[in-house]
Amino acid sequence: MNLPSRVRIVEVGPRDGLQNEAITVSVEDRITFCLALIEAGLPVVEPGAFVSPKWVPQMADSEDVFKALPKDRAQLPMLVPNRQGYERARAAGVSAIAIFTAASDAFNLRNTNVTIDESIRRFEEFVGEAKKAGVFVRGYISTCFGCPYEGPVPPAKVADVTRRLIGLGCDEISLGDTIGIAVPSQVDDVIGAVSPHAPLARLAVHFHDTRGVALANVLRALQLGVAIVDSSAGGLGGCPYAPGASGNLATEDLLYMLHGMGIETGVDIVKVAAASRLIGERLGHELPSRYLRATRPQE
Ligand code: HMG
Ligand code: MG
Repeated sequence: MNLPSRVRIVEVGPRDGLQNEAITVSVEDRITFCLALIEAGLPVVEPGAFVSPKWVPQMADSEDVFKALPKDRAQLPMLVPNRQGYERARAAGVSAIAIFTAASDAFNLRNTNVTIDESIRRFEEFVGEAKKAGVFVRGYISTCFGCPYEGPVPPAKVADVTRRLIGLGCDEISLGDTIGIAVPSQVDDVIGAVSPHAPLARLAVHFHDTRGVALANVLRALQLGVAIVDSSAGGLGGCPYAPGASGNLATEDLLYMLHGMGIETGVDIVKVAAASRLIGERLGHELPSRYLRATRPQE
């Protein structure tokens, strides 16, 4: 198998995970969760979002979460939808942001109230400035493998949005399977369409595990040369504007597969599992990670 020797994991549980929970977790518990994930060796942890607290109350006060975290151990990208979010990011002193749009207008309208074109115009208002200030910019594209409102999404559309985000100055593009609908043959189609517009080294994959196919999709992406994978501790996750978008691929399940195949990550799976158990207790429900269910706390 043609596989990378090392994979960079982008931990999105504190943002993509907690944004979709019925209860809003306290700032203190969000900080504890992020600290535990950083301590586990995750190289990138997404601590929160500077989005409208009216739209996503679970991410309110993300400034306080960010400020409490050490800045020298992991990259800490904050989700930013518009100029107002960028101002919040600058005021908090962030050095990495994640902007987000989609490959389908119907989803983007529900998620951010604007079409894809309008969202790109919004990004033009601050991404150039962010780049000049030395800020790392990740670009998320949702619904790359299918849209809950429009159905199938042509890979050429994903390629076009990728090209535009790279043109804006994005350092990295994360291809999102927002509703967990992708299968490995589609991974070939989408990566094949996108790769002429973005170097493979700058592509990440972001699978939700709604239908149990996320790991198979990751494996296919790795075989195609992708080496950045998004995942969420415990399999927390979803998107409040994507009906049926259940948890992200669980970080523990991803680590189990990668480490078993001899692929390095620098992440301690036992510590990630402990962090997941702690946040699971706060949320008051069991988390979907298969690894968590198959192991006892001290294993
Ligand atoms: P809008 O209502 O069109 O915005 O929302 P607006 O500019 O008209 O402002 C309305 C109000 O929101 C105003 O307040 C603004 O000040 C405030 P009011 O005057 O009514 O008191 N506002 C803000 N407040 C704080 N921070 C801001 C901000 N911007 C405006 N940045 C907006 C537009 C983009 C703000 C809204 O739609 C929004 O916040 N959407 C975010 C939705 C979201 O967070 N979705 C989940 C993340 S994406 C995801 O999960 C997918 C991903 O995981 C990949 C995948 O799986 O596909 C990344
Ligand atoms: Mg997501």
